[in-house]
Amino acid sequence: VYPALELRRTVRWYQERAVGEDVLARLAQAVTLAPSAHHSTPWHLTVICGAPALRRLAVAMAAAWDRDMAASGVPAELRRRRTERSVRRLGSAPAGILTSLDTRRLAGDAREETMMVQSVAAATYAILLAAAYEGLGAAWNCPPLFCPAEVRSALGLPEYLRPQALVTLGYPREAPGPRPVRSLEGALTWIRAAP
Ligand SMILES: Cc1cc2nc3c(=O)[nH]c(=O)nc-3n(C[C@H](O)[C@H](O)[C@H](O)COP(=O)(O)O)c2cc1C
Repeated sequence: VYPALELRRTVRWYQERAVGEDVLARLAQAVTLAPSAHHSTPWHLTVICGAPALRRLAVAMAAAWDRDMAASGVPAELRRRRTERSVRRLGSAPAGILTSLDTRRLAGDAREETMMVQSVAAATYAILLAAAYEGLGAAWNCPPLFCPAEVRSALGLPEYLRPQALVTLGYPREAPGPRPVRSLEGALTWIRAAP
């Protein structure tokens, strides 16, 4: 597992080369190995093949982002730069997998809901690890969280799906830079047995 953890990096730009459906099917299958609360498997995957469908999705998400930024007073020029870059990046990926929470699995209080969201995140990480193993670059993108209705409409998804993350996928255009050094300083506590 440790080499797999090392191998995975966020890769945001890809070659035009298509990702085979067989590969995408294996990535989807990897989710079935992820843990989920109460073994609820509360996820739904939408596998998106080819840049045109991703572009449609990217354009819809960018329009929602632009509307939100305008409402909070972001200047038009900055909004244009941000949304154009977002469409260029997300809309040019050769493939993607949208992970959604199947809200029909929700029952109970907010803590239960958190567990379901955590389970979808665990599934999303399984896709990233499997993608790295397949030699693919992948990036976890959060925009779907901010505009679920637009995402459902762009992809024709039912109302009961709550989009969580768009994993863009493709053969890497370039190797990622050196991994930023992260330390556990301030984020690690040991509780040791008394001697
Ligand atoms: C919940 C979550 C949301 C993220 N959203 C985005 C995003 O919207 N756009 C993006 O470029 N990267 C996104 N990332 C990727 C992080 O920026 C990335 O993991 C981080 O910079 C560390 O780099 P590494 O993945 O190569 O270790 C997201 C990661 C997580 C876990």
